[in-house]
Amino acid sequence: MTRKRVGVLISSRGSNMESLVEAAKERSYPAAIALVVSNNPQAPGLARAKAHAIPTAVIDHRSHGKDRAAFERALESDRVELICLAGFMRLLTPAFVLQWQGRMLNIHPALLPSFPGLDAHGQALKAGVKISGATVHLVTPEADAGPIVAQAAVPVGDDDTAETLAARILEVEHHIYPLALRLLAEGRVKLIGNRCHIAGSGPAAGALIVPAEARRAPDVTKE
Ligand code: GRF
Repeated sequence: MTRKRVGVLISSRGSNMESLVEAAKERSYPAAIALVVSNNPQAPGLARAKAHAIPTAVIDHRSHGKDRAAFERALESDRVELICLAGFMRLLTPAFVLQWQGRMLNIHPALLPSFPGLDAHGQALKAGVKISGATVHLVTPEADAGPIVAQAAVPVGDDDTAETLAARILEVEHHIYPLALRLLAEGRVKLIGNRCHIAGSGPAAGALIVPAEARRAPDVTKE
């Protein structure tokens, strides 16, 4: 099996990047993390990557602006085949996104198409939803709008704050991102119109996580 070479783009903490690195340690995993690129030289994720002996590169957006060429050089020099955006806070140019269409994933901490953009957790709380979650999708020029590869749901409690909800969602992010990358690297993600079909699985099987709480929902019809 030739493992697909993956570049992970981060801006900060890098916990999702680390979940991909951990998954790729398994011998049967179809992808290898070849490079971690940060636009922020202070990103704690860079140290996390180095601790796993993953090559890192910093492309400081303050000196490069939206320099597509600098990103391309970094990624091409390591023969990257797939890109994972993992808490990457810079907008990419449409030309770059189009060049990588179908080969670039992003993770968003909400059940898209609900709550795209910044502060997804705050948006979910404000809307009063009872379930939120995380989405891994293919990246298209419109932010947080690409075809969905995998989603995971978590319950939203009355006492949740943006922080507690973020922590609960982050846990499932660390499961679905490695899962979605596996599906893409195995060539099992088939784009039909704007929908991703997962080859070799039943309806949404393997790409959907339902929280235990939802499986044994309390009977609220009784006094
Ligand atoms: C995650 O919640 C991800 O969904 C969002 O940014 C956050 C990044 O966290 N896009 P980390 O840097 O992966 O820890």
